[in-house]
Amino acid sequence: MPVITNIEDLRVLAEKRVPRMFYDYADSGSWTEGTYRANSDDFQKIKLRQRVAVNMENRTTATKMVGQDVKMPVCIAPVGLTGMQSADGEIKAAKAAERFGIPFTLSTMSICSIEDIAANTTAPFWFQLYMMRDREAMARMIQRCKVAKCSALVLTLDLQVIGQRHKDLKNGLTAPPRPTIANIINLMTKPRWCLGMAGTKRHSFGNLVGHVKAVTNMKSLASWTNEQFDPTLSWEDVAWVKQQWGGKLILKGIMDVEDAKLAVQSGADAIVVSNHGGRQLDGAPSSIEALPAIVAAVGDRIEVWMDGGIRSGQDVLKAWALGARGTMIGRAMVYGLGAMGEEGVLKALQIIHKELDITMAFCGHTNIQNVDKSILLPGTYPTA
Ligand SMILES: Cc1cc2nc3c(=O)[nH]c(=O)nc-3n(C[C@H](O)[C@H](O)[C@H](O)COP(=O)(O)O)c2cc1C
Repeated sequence: MPVITNIEDLRVLAEKRVPRMFYDYADSGSWTEGTYRANSDDFQKIKLRQRVAVNMENRTTATKMVGQDVKMPVCIAPVGLTGMQSADGEIKAAKAAERFGIPFTLSTMSICSIEDIAANTTAPFWFQLYMMRDREAMARMIQRCKVAKCSALVLTLDLQVIGQRHKDLKNGLTAPPRPTIANIINLMTKPRWCLGMAGTKRHSFGNLVGHVKAVTNMKSLASWTNEQFDPTLSWEDVAWVKQQWGGKLILKGIMDVEDAKLAVQSGADAIVVSNHGGRQLDGAPSSIEALPAIVAAVGDRIEVWMDGGIRSGQDVLKAWALGARGTMIGRAMVYGLGAMGEEGVLKALQIIHKELDITMAFCGHTNIQNVDKSILLPGTYPTA
């Protein structure tokens, strides 16, 4: 067993253990993948100011996200098909998040259902909603979240149409995988994954099958999404969701100052500056580049979070320094899960927390609440 010291170690292990089509599904962006790469590359350009001879004892990274206590300003991002990275993956990730002390967000496109997560965890979790054409099904899904006592709803706004990820088309992505020769050969090299899948009944979209019309079996994900997701989604629909839900509402996928202002007007509690991990509009700026202008425009009126490219606690600290009051992690969680299941997700969170904590100390701070742009070297970070 290799010694795991960083998120890259988990990625390498996940690549070995997860069937090719699901590893590729996670580790890819749309078209040229330029925005996908920029998300993490732009974090690397930001330099930190080291301070010394400052008392670094008794540190804390604790804060609140939409009023909820978190051990660090991080939550698990909604990731479709998480239960294909590892059997019952969403349950494992939710348990790890609960053990660590941050919220877990369940995707609409998850394998385990809302009810599965509620039955296997005690901490309230969050649910991510995609707007589908079938409004009755949407209303029922929101109702299921209330019954499951979800403590926030994350409405994703950047997937009215789906960005093309070449690898998914080439691999013929489906859940579960079709028994083609190529898939069978690949699966033979992943005994741990196959054993896990043989031990669970959860092999398809748990929130949708039997709940949304036309979802009875697993067709191509992209074509199903194209048929079902609502391309007419508007701010009136956001108001409709807010009214149906009545609880904390987080709008995900905001990249533009004008949209951020509309989000404030909608009465949402938080926005996530996000380009969907570089999976939607290729050619969009990195999320960290887009963040400062949005914080400057609306940061005093709404909680601004960000996601995209976070692979270390240093990235979390940089996002915080630039005004993000929370972050989401997608692939860092996926790699932990694919590598080592629940323990791998916990490991990913522990790695990120340790890096965040130590970096904060090196920058001369003991409480994340006191950290601001002054920890960053001028000229190396994006500005409004
Ligand atoms: C494999 C994969 C599936 C995703 N599925 C969803 C989803 O179902 N709903 C959603 O709102 N975002 C989804 N996202 C986007 C993530 O929530 C998040 O914005 C992104 O992963 C952040 O970038 P990072 O992976 O670099 O941390 C997905 C991302 C990945 C990598």
